[in-house]
Amino acid sequence: MPPLQVARSANIAFQRSYLPIALFIGATSGIGQATAEAFARATKGNAHIIICGRNRIAGEATIAQFPKPTSSDAIHEFIECDVSLMKNVQHITDSLISRLPKLNYLLVSQGIFTMRGSDRTSEDMERKLALHYYSRWKFIHDLAPLLKKATDSGEDAKVMSVYAPGLGGKVIWDDLGLKNNFSAATAGLVAPAYNDMMIESFAEQYPGVSFIHATPGAVRTNLLRPTSFAGHLLKNIVTGLVYPFSLSSEESGEYMLWSLLHSKSGAVRSNSHGDEMTGLEKWGGSEEDRRRLWEHTEAEIQRALETSASSE
Ligand SMILES: *[C@@H]1O[C@H](CO)[C@@H](O)[C@H](O)[C@H]1NC(C)=O
Repeated sequence: MPPLQVARSANIAFQRSYLPIALFIGATSGIGQATAEAFARATKGNAHIIICGRNRIAGEATIAQFPKPTSSDAIHEFIECDVSLMKNVQHITDSLISRLPKLNYLLVSQGIFTMRGSDRTSEDMERKLALHYYSRWKFIHDLAPLLKKATDSGEDAKVMSVYAPGLGGKVIWDDLGLKNNFSAATAGLVAPAYNDMMIESFAEQYPGVSFIHATPGAVRTNLLRPTSFAGHLLKNIVTGLVYPFSLSSEESGEYMLWSLLHSKSGAVRSNSHGDEMTGLEKWGGSEEDRRRLWEHTEAEIQRALETSASSE
């Protein structure tokens, strides 16, 4: 485990021969914001950094704090977007695909600290699943060609989903979208499992790219070491929702960035200190599980987009 100082110095020593392009989704607060800030410090602002979130004021304030770049190619931009709607995600990815030459780093952390109750979006998706899973899958899926362009030129291509590796519960295979079986507890159990399977599926399709499922470590004190099913449920829910009290968000951002920059290619699960967690491979599901989830995801996102289109 890298001590904080080591992570921080490694991040600050970041150097690439090219101007990196990094996209941070859900970066107007919490861990997404902290990691974007750490990246801006690491690159001394000399990067194309795009942050995306719902809160324009917070987004612009975050960018205003970034170190001023010396490279004239550096760009810092904010995209305002509610990514709980697949229509909005599509709009952003279409635009990025048409204007970016490549993508080196993609962090998806939307929704992680949301305490909003459950409801369904106007596209009839369960809102937490839309944020914690479907929109993340869609960003990665749609932008994968840009990641591939980066690896094709020998550059870094790394994707991180910040959620809860290894903390998935039982998947309800005949109701993956939780249309009939929703409870906050169930949503908190399936979304980590979906993320774990998601990184495996993408890693299979895009060799050379890192797909990291990282925990910000909300509950790493083991105060909630689960000994019962209820305890397991509680831990999953708390892990998914609670702000990491025991590390400042600045510290978490340094660890997340360290893991983002240093993880090997393939599917990686990393802990709150940026280390790879071992023994969690089984959480990636069987080949059949991953195929079922993938097919459901494609169909469900398509259905959501059609719902949006028909209401326009
Ligand atoms: C899901 O909901 C359906 C309909 O209410 C119910 O019959 C089924 O038992 C539920 N499945 C699980 C795994 O809870």
